[in-house]
Amino acid sequence: MGSNTSYTTTLLITAVLVLVIGTAVNVNACPPSDRAALLAFKAALHEPYLGIFKSWTGNDCCNKWYGVSCDPVTKRVADINLRGESEDPIFQRAHRTGYMNGSISPAICNLKRLSSVIIADWKGISGRIPKCITSLPFLRILDLIGNRISGEIPFDIGKLKRLSVLNVADNRISGRMPRSIANLQSLMHLDLRNNLISGTIPINFGKLRMLSRALLSGNRIYGQIPYTISYIYRLSDLDLSLNRISGSIPESLGKMAVLATLNLDGNRISGKLPATLMNSSISILNLSRNAIEGNIPDVFGPRSYFMMMDLSHNNLKGPIPKSIASASYIGHLDLSYNHLCGAIPAVSWFEHLEASSFVNNDCLCGKPLKSC
Ligand SMILES: *[C@@H]1O[C@H](CO)[C@@H](O)[C@H](O)[C@H]1NC(C)=O
Ligand SMILES: *[C@@H]1O[C@H](CO)[C@@H](O)[C@H](O)[C@H]1NC(C)=O
Ligand SMILES: *[C@@H]1O[C@H](CO)[C@@H](O)[C@H](O)[C@H]1NC(C)=O
Repeated sequence: MGSNTSYTTTLLITAVLVLVIGTAVNVNACPPSDRAALLAFKAALHEPYLGIFKSWTGNDCCNKWYGVSCDPVTKRVADINLRGESEDPIFQRAHRTGYMNGSISPAICNLKRLSSVIIADWKGISGRIPKCITSLPFLRILDLIGNRISGEIPFDIGKLKRLSVLNVADNRISGRMPRSIANLQSLMHLDLRNNLISGTIPINFGKLRMLSRALLSGNRIYGQIPYTISYIYRLSDLDLSLNRISGSIPESLGKMAVLATLNLDGNRISGKLPATLMNSSISILNLSRNAIEGNIPDVFGPRSYFMMMDLSHNNLKGPIPKSIASASYIGHLDLSYNHLCGAIPAVSWFEHLEASSFVNNDCLCGKPLKSC
């Protein structure tokens, strides 16, 4: 009995020792393959002003490498977070924002446990988004805003089932929006603004059920607004401005539960103004600089609450509807450069509006324009 107990104890101690030593080795350093991948990533970039990569030395890439963090248990690299505009002391000491050139090495794809890749606002990073990025199954955030990245979004981006943020705004990305984008079932935030993206919005875009912000402004997107967008019930911000979108505005956009911002300005949109938009959850509405025609629907009511409504530079005709007086609130209103006619309704909150909100119409009159 006694020797049996001591035998068990010995076994236990051995097991604990093995664990402790094993853990100690793990704690010591990140896997050499992760370290090698980071060094290859660093070698393809050139950061002349701040010296952020000076900390990337030694064996343990999980220990104080600037912008690198690891899973505390597995010691695998989980996040690369390098922002060129930051409050970090390294920037304050240098009295400047960051700048880097070079490119994003495909070696980054050897970091199989990556969950977020933020390489933002370095202004000079060029080259392409590594195609192999779609082989990182744990990727949740891909944020490359504010560089000079060109080439296309990988066609099979839809493989990234966990991706919740895709931000490549302010780069030089070209090509079409890949059809597979609609398979990003976790995507919440899509920002492709200010690139050279062309083609149409995929018809199955409405499959993106988690999406809350879709920002596609400042590209070369053409074709119609797919009505399936209105199936995205979490969508609160839709910005398609400054593209080449044509066709009419789907009526269903005005029936969306939480859509708060709708920017379609600077496109080639025609057809009538759907009545649903006047009486919806939308509070910021910019439809300026399109070819929208017909009357402004006379359906304003208590549900109409607009911080901003810009309908300027269209082909709207007829009067300003009387029901506008029953809107809860309209902060900034711009109806200039249309073909509206008739008396401007005497609404108390119109008093803060200037003549510029109404100028260049066919025959509007009354305050703040000259009396009828
Ligand atoms: C990055 O800029 C430096 C000058 O700051 C230049 O010598 C180098 O060739 C550039 N590298 C790339 C890849 O553009
Ligand atoms: C609406 O869009 C137009 C055209 O893009 C822009 O010039 C204008 O400033 C926007 N209106 C507001 C109030 O932001
Ligand atoms: C405004 O919308 C609500 C809810 O969608 C609807 O019940 C109401 O009839 C609409 N009002 C007008 C004037 O269209």
